[in-house]
Amino acid sequence: MSSLELSMARPITLLQPARLEIGAGAIKRLGDWAAAYKRVFVVAMAPTVGFVDRIGLGGEVTTFTDIPPEPDLPAFETVLAAARAFKPDLVIGLGGGSVMDVAKLVAVLWDSEQSILDVVGVDKVAGRRSALAQVPTTSGTGSEAGIRSLVTNPETLAKLAVESRHMLADIAVLDPELTYSVPTAVTAATGVDALAHCVEAFTNIKAHP
Ligand SMILES: NC(=O)c1ccc[n+]([C@@H]2O[C@H](COP(=O)([O-])OP(=O)(O)OC[C@H]3O[C@@H](n4cnc5c(N)ncnc54)[C@H](O)[C@@H]3O)[C@@H](O)[C@H]2O)c1
Repeated sequence: MSSLELSMARPITLLQPARLEIGAGAIKRLGDWAAAYKRVFVVAMAPTVGFVDRIGLGGEVTTFTDIPPEPDLPAFETVLAAARAFKPDLVIGLGGGSVMDVAKLVAVLWDSEQSILDVVGVDKVAGRRSALAQVPTTSGTGSEAGIRSLVTNPETLAKLAVESRHMLADIAVLDPELTYSVPTAVTAATGVDALAHCVEAFTNIKAHP
């Protein structure tokens, strides 16, 4: 390892959600936080839509549940159109990484002139956005605390990666009770995802030593 890699002169930026709520039943605290918002657009999946009632949302709420695992561009365009019609002041991602990655992009694109292809890459998102809350219901991706989003291009099957600090959640809620219904195989696979993230932190010293 070179001296530069260990040097305090090497800049490191850490971005995290402003607020984290952690613990069994934590999802109820999201309702208190969200009370200031009038129009709430929830992105979910069929297995997670039942958790919406536990949040205790006020205001007008619409829930979009048609997110496939590993979402592709057409699926994203469908949810984006629904959000544009609804005009939310708060977007909530309530599901696994597939749902949370979509919620990030919805929050920054529904009120924007930019298309998703305009923002693929690093720091391309212009910035006007609604508030964003993330509630993971699997435990592996870490997407709730990150600034990246992955959507599949169906023509190439490549994942398009969008990275922007504007996609950081205002609040992330980690409630382990939401993971109890995850199928065993998905629990195992998402655990391997979490392990891979940890191994990456040891083996890749490009971000910081
Ligand atoms: N943004 C990032 O930093 C990041 C990191 C890793 C992965 N990802 C992306 O995340 C996606 C994978 O996310 P994932 O592994 O969480 O899987 P997922 O979101 O695709 O969910 C897997 C399956 O589990 C179901 N499920 C989710 N929560 C459930 C619950 N509480 N009860 C029952 N079923 C439930 C879903 O409906 C789905 O069928 C991929 O698209 C990947 O590209 C993003």
